[in-house]
Amino acid sequence: MDLLSLETPVPVVDLDIVEANLARMQRYCDAHGIALRPHIKTHKIPALAQRQLALGARGITCQKLGEAEVMVEAGLDDILLSYPLLGAAKAARLAALAPRAKLRVAIDSAPALATVAEAARASGAEIGILVEFDSGTARTGVMTVEELLALARAARATPGLRFDGVMTYPLGPKAAAFLAEALPALKAEGMEPAIISGGGTPRAFHAHEAAPINELRVGTYIYNDRMTVAAGHATWADCALHLHVTVISRPEPHRAIIDAGSKSFAADIMPAGLQEGYGYFPDYPEAKLERLSEEHGMVDLSACARRPEIGERLRVVPNHVCPVSNLVDRIAVVQGGVFQGYWDVAARGRSI
Ligand SMILES: Cc1ncc(COP(=O)(O)O)c(C=O)c1O
Repeated sequence: MDLLSLETPVPVVDLDIVEANLARMQRYCDAHGIALRPHIKTHKIPALAQRQLALGARGITCQKLGEAEVMVEAGLDDILLSYPLLGAAKAARLAALAPRAKLRVAIDSAPALATVAEAARASGAEIGILVEFDSGTARTGVMTVEELLALARAARATPGLRFDGVMTYPLGPKAAAFLAEALPALKAEGMEPAIISGGGTPRAFHAHEAAPINELRVGTYIYNDRMTVAAGHATWADCALHLHVTVISRPEPHRAIIDAGSKSFAADIMPAGLQEGYGYFPDYPEAKLERLSEEHGMVDLSACARRPEIGERLRVVPNHVCPVSNLVDRIAVVQGGVFQGYWDVAARGRSI
């Protein structure tokens, strides 16, 4: 089967580019003495997680328990859950995983700590705690060193828990200042963190300059996307996943309609000031994917000297690649330019 006979829309992943992206990040981490703990949210495929480990990663990061369950089932056994878990149902699922893998969980509150403590109690297995701090993103994460210290002390004092360190996402502008205050304070109480974990692909190659981290959680680097290219992290040639689509209609000379809409592309638009639209067409750089309905993508060709015909297949680099993986049951894989088969996106859709 050749690539042109694959039904569209379909995400096509080039394993040669994947391999180069993985190797480059591992080399960066090795050169700076930083452990790499890739986030599987981008690919959601156990075989790719295994490849990341084979190249030298310390373990993996999962966002949702459901993702971790898929990965543990596939044999991955060193997992950071970088997301606060709350309540009895989550505690029970975490307890079921705990004897099967070395687990760490990021928390930023006493109730989240209590959930992990309950899982440790129920399973009899020790679970590591990372306290998440906000470094300028205003998402999860404690805002003050006092809160961090209180949670670290609570982790240390709770049977079944182990205080392992601190984490933040992304590695924001306030990380260095926060750590400059937090690290001596933790040390003064005998709680020097074994792990100082930062994350985010766009600035990954500057992580060693940003703050004294010793672990890097990156996800998007495996495929790259329009945002990581815009951030200067990657080039178009480093984009491993293209959505292959077909032009299904050309109602007007300046308009093409493709067979992929919001069922295939994430709604993420580019940050203000960067390019418009929902994706980049490498073969038609001036084309603009300006609107999505569920199954249609509306492409403005006004700026294109050359324009695609009905039936023509186009490649699109999505703005943000992680949600694209989440929208499909399988991806097509190529190596050496040859179609290798379809791979299941085993951990897709695991929103709980
Ligand atoms: C907690 C956490 N760590 C790491 C990452 C990886 O970020 P990136 O995909 O930019 O590498 C994410 C992405 O959402 C995240 O939420």
